[in-house]
Amino acid sequence: MTYLKKILIVGNMTSADVYKNPAIAENYDAILAKRKSLCFFDTEYLRKNIKSGDRVLDLGCGTGRHLLGLCDLAEMTGIDISPKMIEIADRKLKGKAKLIVGDIINVNSLVDGKFNVVLMMYHTLGSIDSSVSRADLFCQINKLLKENGRLILHVHNRRHIKNLRFLLQRTKGDKIIKEGLLKGAIIHFFTKKEVEELANEHGFKMEEVICLKYPEEAEEIRGWKKYFCTGGYIFNLRKK
Ligand SMILES: C[S@@+](CC[C@H](N)C(=O)[O-])C[C@H]1O[C@@H](n2cnc3c(N)ncnc32)[C@H](O)[C@@H]1O
Repeated sequence: MTYLKKILIVGNMTSADVYKNPAIAENYDAILAKRKSLCFFDTEYLRKNIKSGDRVLDLGCGTGRHLLGLCDLAEMTGIDISPKMIEIADRKLKGKAKLIVGDIINVNSLVDGKFNVVLMMYHTLGSIDSSVSRADLFCQINKLLKENGRLILHVHNRRHIKNLRFLLQRTKGDKIIKEGLLKGAIIHFFTKKEVEELANEHGFKMEEVICLKYPEEAEEIRGWKKYFCTGGYIFNLRKK
């Protein structure tokens, strides 16, 4: 059903194709600047969970904010579908991280060796536009991780009060962007249970789940408020 809708709206373009538009990369840092709190919160969280000398793979690295924020600590590799995102990241990093242009749904053919930590931050998993590809990606990541390695990812919460339309529209969490530079891309909003199931089915155990307020105000929420006010989650998963 979702696939049919996508064909009706954007022909044969996938979300990955939409992200290749260089104009998105040129605007990306300006968009992030408005979301300072998420960007501060998640980088700090990663710094606490990555050890000195770890090999870290950042999937959908964008213009490289986590590569930059972690390259003094760990050996960083970033992959993005957008050549322009990688060009901007390269300009900032000046050789301090390995950068690859490619589609993360084929990640196992893009990198060599195993990693201590794999990252998919700021809803990169939600830009992968089919549940089959998302499940396959979990499977590939598990194989790329060293023993006891971690997958740390951020997703948007489908059950947030602002996303009630998903209950009404029976879209199973897919939102097709209808205007702007991302027109035609799909953002998939997850339930906590959905990520827990993906983790269980693909050889991960849940070590920590952080409930975040909506991305623009990315502080952690605790207590009863998390049932109503969680805009997104950071999941910290350990390879079993
Ligand atoms: C919302 S941005 C997040 C960027 C970065 N992870 C961050 O935390 O700021 C999603 C990124 O994933 C990239 N992306 C989307 N689909 C992709 C795919 N199939 N393969 C590789 N990168 C992809 C986009 O180009 C974009 O840079």
